[in-house]
Amino acid sequence: MKFPDTRMRRLRNNDSIRKLLAENRLSTDELVYPVFLIEGKNKKDIISSMPGVERFSIDLLLKEIADVKKLGIKSILLFGVTDKKLKDSDISKSASKDGFVQRGISEIKNKFPDMVVAVDVCLCGYTESGHCGIIKDEYVDNDKSVEALSELALSYALSGADIVAPSAMMDGMVRGIRKALEDNGLKNTLIMSYSAKYASAFYGPFRDMAESAPSFGDRKSYQMPPSNSREAMREIELDIKEGADIVMVKPALMYLDVISKAKERFDMPLAAYNVSGEYSMIKFACKNGLLDERSAVMETLLSIKRAGADIIITYFAKDILRMINE
Ligand code: PBG
Repeated sequence: MKFPDTRMRRLRNNDSIRKLLAENRLSTDELVYPVFLIEGKNKKDIISSMPGVERFSIDLLLKEIADVKKLGIKSILLFGVTDKKLKDSDISKSASKDGFVQRGISEIKNKFPDMVVAVDVCLCGYTESGHCGIIKDEYVDNDKSVEALSELALSYALSGADIVAPSAMMDGMVRGIRKALEDNGLKNTLIMSYSAKYASAFYGPFRDMAESAPSFGDRKSYQMPPSNSREAMREIELDIKEGADIVMVKPALMYLDVISKAKERFDMPLAAYNVSGEYSMIKFACKNGLLDERSAVMETLLSIKRAGADIIITYFAKDILRMINE
């Protein structure tokens, strides 16, 4: 009788065998859930471009965090969203310890001391221009922006953030922030840098959420061109030298090769950001019956895991945990 040399199908014979032999597994510990904070009380906005994601004022956000904690989420990434009318080019107001984001951070940490709170550090949610830095003559001024980002990061760290996550793609921002933290005795605040952040079309739904689309031009003079991956390695290397604790590739799905290259090259905790466009694209396809949500979400997150991410930042965190818990 002739038979194949190796029967690979033995490895897939039933669900228990397949589970036993899984090379990659998703766990609650590695997921980070992004949350959006707005000013005010008893406020909740539904964002039509991101089904299932909402922005909350602090009282309602605390309830949301209690819910996601029950599901098993242990880490959140907080974004402060200022009202359009309040956007201002004077960043020191946003960096005040009485700012709504700073108060929000301390309320969250008071109520949930063991929740890891990472806070996005960028200026685009606060500036009138919608750019990630400070504008001088229609150009984002790098070094002035680093000063402002350092001030902002320090204010978040002083309010109790466990991790500050600069996402502005300014040169030297990690060094500036590390110095500000050290100078103020904040030895244990982690820096998770958005090291290789691409100028991506897939941030579209997020910009609706954060009302942070640039009012003129685009972000191509600071975010990376989609054509390049060696440049991403240089960006990551610089952030490591400047003192980052965690490096990041963003978006995730469009840049799985970059994640995998970074994983091989650097012995650093590596985060991948499964961004708003990647989320909404799949959500809308599922809502319209084109994809089976359960398997589509699992497959998506497993692809990021398989590429080598240690940490996955994803709006699917709640969905996936419901699935894992089932
Ligand atoms: C701020 C920031 C952005 C995202 C995270 N931090 C938007 C941008 O750079 O325009 C995008 C997140 C997402 O799309 O889910 N700079």
